[in-house]
Amino acid sequence: MPTPPELQGRHIVLGLSGGVACYKAAELTRELVRAGATVQVVMTDAALQFITVATMQALSGRAVFTSQWDTREPNAMPHINLSRQADAILVAPASADFIAQLAQGRAGELLALLCLARPIETCPLLLAPAMNREMWAHPATQRNVAQVLADGAMLLGPAAGDQACGEVGDGRMLEAGELRDALVAFFQPKRLAGRSVLVTAGPTFEAIDPVRGISNHSSGKMGFAIARAAAEAGARVTLVAGPVHLPTPAGVRRIDVQSAQQMADAVLSLAPAHGFFVATAAVADWRPLQAAGQKIKKDGSGQAPTLALAENPDILAAVARLPEGQRPWCVGFAAESEHIVEHARAKRLRKGVPLIVANHGPSTFGQDHNALVLVDAAGETPLPRADKLTLARALVAEMARRAPEVTR
Ligand code: C5P
Repeated sequence: MPTPPELQGRHIVLGLSGGVACYKAAELTRELVRAGATVQVVMTDAALQFITVATMQALSGRAVFTSQWDTREPNAMPHINLSRQADAILVAPASADFIAQLAQGRAGELLALLCLARPIETCPLLLAPAMNREMWAHPATQRNVAQVLADGAMLLGPAAGDQACGEVGDGRMLEAGELRDALVAFFQPKRLAGRSVLVTAGPTFEAIDPVRGISNHSSGKMGFAIARAAAEAGARVTLVAGPVHLPTPAGVRRIDVQSAQQMADAVLSLAPAHGFFVATAAVADWRPLQAAGQKIKKDGSGQAPTLALAENPDILAAVARLPEGQRPWCVGFAAESEHIVEHARAKRLRKGVPLIVANHGPSTFGQDHNALVLVDAAGETPLPRADKLTLARALVAEMARRAPEVTR
């Protein structure tokens, strides 16, 4: 069964204040609508200088509001009606001036007015700042930002990078896709709030010489999805990644490694500070005993060189052996080609971990979908075929449910 769009049933008031980044609000509207949300656009006078009502109305499929004197609403109170209907108000772009208005509780225009009039306990306010770096860094802006945060607003971004003015620095509005993901994350249940999760992902690469090596099939997609799902659930997440080309999920600390030994060193130093450890990495079982300092050349004899191998440390088993108090709650993965549950049961006991996630390796390598079976002391729980992010969210929920005693 296909997973419903991630913002299905959510009603978002999308506010635009003035700024060149208004052009990104058009794409953002499409992204939110595509994700299943209904989007009610509200624009300030300044926003109207940058993008038209016609564009925003066409993309949102709803009449746009620009004035508190709009009499289309029967009670002539758009500021009340709009904020009562919203699951969240997202202001993107949020200009320096708009944030200053919020900080002072001003209500001279519909957008600021409806933010002030929103039921503060039930209608969250998310701000995506967009401004020149000097404006962002100015003490007045920073003071205003601190005030609106203290008053309960949430900040999405800003990012650093090229600015429309030609300068480079902090103050860029997040891209449409990043804002959509941030909103999706915002609505996820915070099952791991206050907890921390260490994840390994991807393959390892064991050098034979400076240009060759031994590796495994692994796209890293499942591990990256778990890191993202844990961050969405409110956890502090550290991701130790082998060589993969995947973007780092928002809010996740990433440590890149190459070899199994580097992964083991990173994980064992970090593990005691984490409440959960999820080992999804496809760690190479062996490494060349000695990596050659220079490229090994063919000598024309027709004889292939002999590779002496050494066994790599089992990272998961080593973490599971850490003393009580330093040992996170461990989740292992088992990619098998047959008898997946039987192999997973044996692996769980061998590694000494509370939970093993079994899957059929060859049919999931590099794919966006998978099917999982959770194997623990109580038995098996299947997580039916779905995209990897959906499965990762389900796994995070199962971890939180099974390990309520984990407090860090
Ligand atoms: O022993 P096997 O490789 O089948 O076990 C798979 C599980 O153990 C995965 O969770 C994998 O990340 C982890 N593992 C590890 N270090 C190794 C080998 C596997 O952490 N050297």
